[in-house]
Amino acid sequence: MRKVIALTLLSVAAFCATLAAQSGALQYTNDGQMVLPKDYRQWVFLSAGLGMTYKADAAPNANPPFENVFVNPKAYQEFLKTGVWPDKTVLLLEVRASESRVSINKNGRVQSNILHIEGHVKDHAKGGWAFYGFKDGAQKGTLFPKTADCYSCHGQNGAVDTTFVQFYPTLVDPAKKAGSFKETGH
Ligand code: HEC
Repeated sequence: MRKVIALTLLSVAAFCATLAAQSGALQYTNDGQMVLPKDYRQWVFLSAGLGMTYKADAAPNANPPFENVFVNPKAYQEFLKTGVWPDKTVLLLEVRASESRVSINKNGRVQSNILHIEGHVKDHAKGGWAFYGFKDGAQKGTLFPKTADCYSCHGQNGAVDTTFVQFYPTLVDPAKKAGSFKETGH
């Protein structure tokens, strides 16, 4: 009997773990690191910035990286309806190197290996938005302290609630309709 209960508990735990992974639920390790959602490549793709730079005098980059932005599907659906990010929103920035002369390509740029990944998550239980960095293929992200420039640049220049919705084309209209869109960067 005990064995049956133990087995049942085990399968319930396994089932919950699968559900959590599939739903892209926000998960942390015991020491407060963010777990990289395994299925984020099946989430909603918001945009790819190429070689973006924020300084007026920056030299052009001969090898500009791509920045792919993904969001968990539940938060995306909610944003389309309300123009507001719900609690437990997870946004990921996947930075990839770019290359030009690959295969038949003679010009323009294509994406290659992952350089690093960053996370921006909204979690009321942890006091609101927070940034995490996943270095060198790490599956766990380290929290950036509130003094990091992530918070100030995103806070001042992000069009909606510290996120860069002005660069995510399908979200601009829902945000403007909801009145959550703030004009920035002029
Ligand atoms: C000088 C301004 C600036 C700083 C500093 C900055 N970011 Fe961003 N961040 C941006 C811009 C602009 C985008 C939109 C990228 C795009 O469109 O490809 C962005 C997008 C993101 C996204 C995608 C979700 C969102 O919030 O829109 C994440 C995640 C992110 N940044 C993480 C970080 C982290 C982590 C740091 C600090 C280590 C950081 N950023 C520092 C300007 C900044």
